[in-house]
Amino acid sequence: MEKKNIDWGNLGFEYIQTDKRYVSNYKNGAWDEGGLTSDATVAIMECAGVLQYSQSCFEGLKAYTTEDGRIVTFRPDLNAERMEASARRLEMPVFPKERFLEAVDQVVAANAAYVPPYGSGATLYLRPFMFGSDAVIGVKPSHEYQFRLFATPVGPYFKGGAKPITIRVSDYDRAAPHGTGHIKAGLNYAMSLHAIVEAHSQGYDENMYLDAATRTKVEETGGANFIFVTKDHKVVTPKSGSILPSITRRSLMYVAEHYLGLEAEEREVSFAEVKDFAECGLCGTAAVISPVGKIVDHGKEICFPSGMEKMGPVIQKLYDTLTGIQMGRVEAPEGWIREIKVD
Ligand code: PLP
Ligand code: COI
Repeated sequence: MEKKNIDWGNLGFEYIQTDKRYVSNYKNGAWDEGGLTSDATVAIMECAGVLQYSQSCFEGLKAYTTEDGRIVTFRPDLNAERMEASARRLEMPVFPKERFLEAVDQVVAANAAYVPPYGSGATLYLRPFMFGSDAVIGVKPSHEYQFRLFATPVGPYFKGGAKPITIRVSDYDRAAPHGTGHIKAGLNYAMSLHAIVEAHSQGYDENMYLDAATRTKVEETGGANFIFVTKDHKVVTPKSGSILPSITRRSLMYVAEHYLGLEAEEREVSFAEVKDFAECGLCGTAAVISPVGKIVDHGKEICFPSGMEKMGPVIQKLYDTLTGIQMGRVEAPEGWIREIKVD
């Protein structure tokens, strides 16, 4: 199969339309059989639940070309499970896990020419999503839904790739206790847009959100969880009921413990202790692990000893091991890699 003529090494994190996407519709209490389509547009009622009351959720995962030329996805079963949790919280029907995995396989195989080559630094980003599609005017769940899954080739989420970024402590809250911060609801991202535009206009790459109740504990950013490294090389990640349970973070904590022999701890992290960490990174499917060099809290700077030039040594090892697993250079734990058959 011939690859598309794309400048893989210079891709940013932008949408590029690919050939096929998967669509399934839910009506009268059941999903239809679904399938691939070339049509990248969606036509829905003006009064659709998603347009009026933001009834939508989504996922994000990637397909990779391995060193030996296979195409694989990374732990897609966990994306299916998290989408199930998002759907339940938003009163949407669950798209069955086996069908989710089948849709991933089909979309990747149909767009194999867009899967960036091994070593290019790019990957194929997959975006499954679901929304309420029929008319609702009273505040209540839709009766009809659409599940879609498209693919788009992407480069690094932050310009500069592995260069450390600068973030600020946000004055806006992202998620309330007992709210929707732990699911991947579109509404969580709509309300973060003002904060990210403001952060960018002030020269910051991202926002660090603190817990909404006390403003003393570290939560996450708009699109990634935090990983910290202590001066004695312990890996620490914030525990909170209002952050997204990142699949990358869960994988990194496993890698830290089982591949690198480090202590890994998920616990509450107070903002006051952040200045004492040796390294900081943002982790997620899009972010992979993006090192943070500096955090600015209303003019007060926290500069990590790892500096602004390169990743700290522990974050670098985590990055190398995780991407090694994803690209087939390092043996994966059982069940982490799903190979896609391409005809
Ligand atoms: N936190 C938020 C708010 C996100 O949007 C994401 C991205 O999906 C993550 C964390 C990272 O999650 P994952 O590693 O599963 O991509
Ligand atoms: C991801 O990492 O997949 C995300 O969804 C983060 C962001 C692009 C919303």
